[in-house]
Amino acid sequence: MFRTTLFATLAVLITGCAARTATPSQPTTGSTGSTPRVALKSAVVDGKVLPIPGFMRGINLGNGLDAPSEGEWNVILAPKHFEMAKAGGFDHVRLPVRFSAHAAEQSPYTIDPKFFERVDWALNQAQGNGLGVILDVHHYNELMEEPDAHLDRFVGLWQQIADRYAGRPNSVAFELLNEPCKNLNPVRLNALYPKVTELIRKKHPDRLIFVDSYFWASTSYLHALELPPDPQIVAQFHMYQPLMFTHQGAHWMTEEYQTVGVVFPGPPATPLTPTDGANKVSWVRDFFKNYNTLPTEKNPSGMTIVAAEFERAKKFAHEYGHRVYLGEFGAIDRADPESRVRFIQGVRREAEQRGIGWCYWDDGGQFKVMNIADGTWVQPIGKALLE
Ligand code: BGC
Repeated sequence: MFRTTLFATLAVLITGCAARTATPSQPTTGSTGSTPRVALKSAVVDGKVLPIPGFMRGINLGNGLDAPSEGEWNVILAPKHFEMAKAGGFDHVRLPVRFSAHAAEQSPYTIDPKFFERVDWALNQAQGNGLGVILDVHHYNELMEEPDAHLDRFVGLWQQIADRYAGRPNSVAFELLNEPCKNLNPVRLNALYPKVTELIRKKHPDRLIFVDSYFWASTSYLHALELPPDPQIVAQFHMYQPLMFTHQGAHWMTEEYQTVGVVFPGPPATPLTPTDGANKVSWVRDFFKNYNTLPTEKNPSGMTIVAAEFERAKKFAHEYGHRVYLGEFGAIDRADPESRVRFIQGVRREAEQRGIGWCYWDDGGQFKVMNIADGTWVQPIGKALLE
C-alpha cells in the first residue's frame, strides 16, 4: 500500500493522527491509590517471560479497519490476509479497529451495525483459520487530545464490544487502546484501565486483555502502569527504536525524521548528512553525530539500543508480575532491504530469547510484507519474519 504525501497530509489534518515521538518529556506518572502495584508473582521463570499461548508470533492487519473508512488507506481486508498469515506460520493476527469513527457522539455511543458486522467477519476469518486475534481499539486520537471529553464514550464503546463478543472463544483477545499518548497520561490511564477491565470481566472472566503503556506504548512507561492483579492482563509495548532508522522519511512524522539512507546497524560506510529539519533538533543532531562515528556496539542505530528495550520489558515482567508482549515493530520501506532484514532478525532474536511474543507491523502499509493480490510475501523481509 502506498499513501501519497498529499493524501497523508490531508489525512493527518482531518483525523488529527498523532506522530510518535522519541524523547519522553518528564514522566507524568502518578498513583490513583486504587490499585496495588505489586500483587502478582514474577512473570519471569528461568530467565524467560511466561508465554502467552497462541499469541507468540503475529502480524498486524493494519491500515484497513483502522483507516478513517476501510479502503481509504488502500487496504481492504480479504480472506487472503488470514489465509496467508496462517500459511506463513503465524499463530495470531492483531486487528486494529477505529471504532471511534463509526459510533455516535452521544450516549450510548451506538456503534454502526454495518461496521460491527465487518469486525465480526474479520474475527470469524481469524477463528476459521485457527488464528488468535487481538481486537485493538486503534487511532482514538480525540481521546488522546481531550481525554475528559471522551472517557465516557470510550467506556461506552467497550461496553458494546464486550456485550457483542461475549461467548467468543479465548482465541479472541482484547486490547483496550493502541498507543496512549499526549494528554491521556499515566494518571488518567491508571484510572481508566481498571474501569474498563472491570466492565469486560463481567462477561469475559478469563479472556486475555492487553494494555498499552503510555507514550506510544513505550517500554520507558511500562513501570508507570498500575494494573489490576489479574494474570490474564498483559502489558503491551511497541518497539520502533531506533526511530531515525525505522521511521526515516515517514510522511506522518515531523521534519526531524526526514533524513533517509540510515542503515542498521551504523556506522555508515560514508557519513550521512542530516536534513536541515533534523539539524534543528538537538537530540537528533547528536544522534547523527554518533551514528556517523561510533562503532557498531555503541552506535545509536544498532542492537545495543534494541536489547536495552527488551531488558526493560523483561524487568517489568519480573518486578510487576504481568507478562509483556511486543504488539508492533518493523522498519519502513524507505530503509534499504538488508538493513530491514537485520533489524527484523535482531528484534525477533531479542524477543524470542526472552520468551516475549511479537507481532510485526504491517501487512500492507509502508512496512508492508504481504502482497495480497498474488499471495506472495515481500522479500527479503518476508523471509526474516517467516523463518
Ligand atoms: C500506527 C500506524 C503507523 C505505525 C508505525 C501504528 O501504531 O497506527 O499508522 O504506520 O504505528 O508508525
